Amino acid sequence: MSQTWWRGAAIYQVYLRSFADGNGDGAGDLAGLRSRLTYLKELGIDAIWLNPWYPSPMADGGYDVADYRDIEPVFGTLAEAERFIVEAHELDIKVIIDVVPNHSSTQSAWFKEALENPAARDRFWFADEPLNDWQSIFGGSAWSQVPDGQWYLHLFAPEQPDFNWANPEVHQEFEDVLRFWFERGVDGFRIDSAALLYKSGTGYEDLDEVHDVYRRWREVADEYGERILIGEVWLPDQERFARYLRPDEMHTAFNFDFLSCAWDPADLRRSIELTLDTHTPIGAPPTWVLSNHDVTRPVTRYGRIDTTFAHGGALHGTPSDPELGYRRARAAALLAMALPGSVYVYQGEELGLPEVEDLPNEVRQDPMYARSGGTNPGRDGCRIPLPWSGEEPPFGFGTGTPWLPQPESWRKLTAEAQRTDLGSMLSLYRTGLGLRRKLLGDGTLTWLPMGEQVLAFTRDSGLTCVTNLGADPVPLPAGEVVLASGPVEDGLLPSDTTAWLT
Ligand code: GLC
Repeated sequence: MSQTWWRGAAIYQVYLRSFADGNGDGAGDLAGLRSRLTYLKELGIDAIWLNPWYPSPMADGGYDVADYRDIEPVFGTLAEAERFIVEAHELDIKVIIDVVPNHSSTQSAWFKEALENPAARDRFWFADEPLNDWQSIFGGSAWSQVPDGQWYLHLFAPEQPDFNWANPEVHQEFEDVLRFWFERGVDGFRIDSAALLYKSGTGYEDLDEVHDVYRRWREVADEYGERILIGEVWLPDQERFARYLRPDEMHTAFNFDFLSCAWDPADLRRSIELTLDTHTPIGAPPTWVLSNHDVTRPVTRYGRIDTTFAHGGALHGTPSDPELGYRRARAAALLAMALPGSVYVYQGEELGLPEVEDLPNEVRQDPMYARSGGTNPGRDGCRIPLPWSGEEPPFGFGTGTPWLPQPESWRKLTAEAQRTDLGSMLSLYRTGLGLRRKLLGDGTLTWLPMGEQVLAFTRDSGLTCVTNLGADPVPLPAGEVVLASGPVEDGLLPSDTTAWLT
């Protein structure tokens, strides 16, 4: 793999708790992941990004980290994690882990110490009374009280106290944590809530000081050679976003502008052009993301009248046409894979899993649900344990009862059912990622004028990608169709379909 493997990589997101269960307790784990590495190799990915695997009370699916230097016992042990890294590397798969620098867990050693000893509170945001009226991103006040009467800040759940980045110990701690895992072989970090670290009287989003943290982290990463930093940076302003990708800061960041786009030719073209225009001058590769563990699954989203994604759950349960959504999700996948830069695949996307919108309320675990007073259903619907095989739940996920229930209808969507079906979503992803490795990834594109309803471009390798977002079929340009997301007959590309031509 090249020295700059990350510039054009296909990165598969593993939500460990829902990937595969190796010990029968109903929760996914490292044993399950290790037993499925060949599946990922055959899918054709270059790297795995794992959501937090650290010891955690799971108040926010592991984003409440109690110890940054160990593994959650439900997932396995540190020794197992080390074995997993070696095994992935043997298959030429890189390993990226999550780091959560904005907040910790109320069960962390530092927070417990702060509770016992008021003199040890400067690593967090403690005050005699709330310093502002900030609301938690999950709903409710961002301040909670401790038994002795002081208050602490938590931008997310009360179980996730925010660190005070004005304290040098916090800097030292995270640099040590990066080293701890780099020394164990991890190839990079996905940085959670990366723009929120600093707080001031005016707010907390994207304060200038935060860039000094990532400049320092970049120096640490560079000491280990070809290790990467990937930012979770939700910022509507693309100029501000691109500042995180300057040559001495992070390597890449998730493209949430593209993820949030409607299935609409003008909006998608705008987003692609904006992305290229902001990334090219600083030499950072764009990323293309259709889903993750926080957002509505594309099959469901693209089947609605409003196909945008926005946080808050407002579109939850609005009618979705499953066939339309499935067709568009296939077309979107080939579009995303063909664009210059790296591409992300969130587990289950390759199986075409829909959002599970009818979960019984009593099984919902996402703090968004409870903290919004039930008005926001939360993100459990995109975190359902994967269906691997068989005719009924748990569909080969493990031997125990999965921590969230799987729909009976998923028998048609198991990896086993799709593996030999050449028309399946899984086959589309496998073939697409395989061709992508040879012909796509890092580089540039040249737009082809094919009208307002069609997105068409040619890549450096000569491969042309055409997506028809109009209602009527359009004639394809000359060339041989090597892959298409739907039926192409007589050189005509149907509505909501992407074709690749050489
Ligand atoms: C990020 C994660 C999300 C988590 C939040 C708080 O947005 O992706 O799952 O709830 O940060 O850590």
